[in-house]
Amino acid sequence: MTIRSVIRGVGSYLPANVVTNDELAKRVDTSDEWIRDRTGIRRRHIAADDEATSDLAINAGLQALKRAGISGADVDMFVVATTTPDHTLPATAAKVQAALGRPGVPSFDIQAVCSGFVYGLAVVDNAIRCGQAKTVLLMGAETISCIVDWEDRTTSVLFGDGAGAVVLSAEQGIGTIADRGILSTHLHSDGRQHDLLYVDGGASTTQTTGYIRMEGREVFRHAVVNLADTVRESLAANDITIADVDWLVPHQANKRILDATVKKLGIQPGKVIVTVEDHANTSAASIPLALATGVDDGRIQEGQLVLMEAMGGGFTWGSALVRM
Ligand code: UT7
Repeated sequence: MTIRSVIRGVGSYLPANVVTNDELAKRVDTSDEWIRDRTGIRRRHIAADDEATSDLAINAGLQALKRAGISGADVDMFVVATTTPDHTLPATAAKVQAALGRPGVPSFDIQAVCSGFVYGLAVVDNAIRCGQAKTVLLMGAETISCIVDWEDRTTSVLFGDGAGAVVLSAEQGIGTIADRGILSTHLHSDGRQHDLLYVDGGASTTQTTGYIRMEGREVFRHAVVNLADTVRESLAANDITIADVDWLVPHQANKRILDATVKKLGIQPGKVIVTVEDHANTSAASIPLALATGVDDGRIQEGQLVLMEAMGGGFTWGSALVRM
């Protein structure tokens, strides 16, 4: 027998305010046509001025708890993957824990940019399998709009706000691929590329929050290679082929990156959950938002094999194979 981290509930939250490409074209020199052609994005949700990352995380977390049939009092670890914390300190997870009600248990944030949710799954899975936690609420939550330079057309059209959450519980398994739960996680980073996608502010450098700066074409090139590599790594580690995977739930940065990855891997396009049209790139929130979309509309079913992959600033990248 072995311990597995089983996803018991999935939740999501998107701010009410929707901004279309045409609305952005009134602010910067761009067009709906350019944005759709180059990225696949049609619209994005943007948080209200009084909506913080913790508010988004709490809403998504509450939905995940409800669907798992438990309350915040049953959770023994709160983790938020985010690049846009409410404050430099404390961790956004501390505010989520306070709102959802279980003082005394650990709460912390994970910063791995767009790979944050996959990093979170790995950390939480390790905590569960070594007995440190039994029921974890893991959220990916972002108000990326706060670090977007709205004068910069090369980045401002790409991002959106939102949050997704999963409840993971320790369950006994027999230790095969048929078991429900996280089957494997694979993490990577290459800090030599830290300046290809970064924020030009920070506590110890400028004492300002700063804005996203990106060498888009370079990031694109690395993304396609790294994402395909980590998917293949996950398949090899579990001795399966891409045909065995029921759903690919990728980080949603750009439809062209998704299409190129699909082509490289030879997966059927109908097996890929795509939300980038409506959500844009929500960084650490994009995978749990896409997962929740697939679960909510009935495509992703219990017992199916789901492969998640992400790549982001750092660079960081990684994958997670989960039996739902
Ligand atoms: O979350 C993980 C990290 N992020 C990513 O994975 C993003 C990766 N990169 C990308 O998705 C793409 O590189 C972008 C969507 C950012 C850009 O697409 P591209 O096809 O690589 O365009 P480009 O940067 O090569 O720019 C092509 C042209 C340039 O004009 P010139 O120099 O050819 O005259 C840009 O100035 O498009 C121009 N351009 C725009 N035009 C209209 C750049 N942004 C815009 C815009 N509207 N918003």
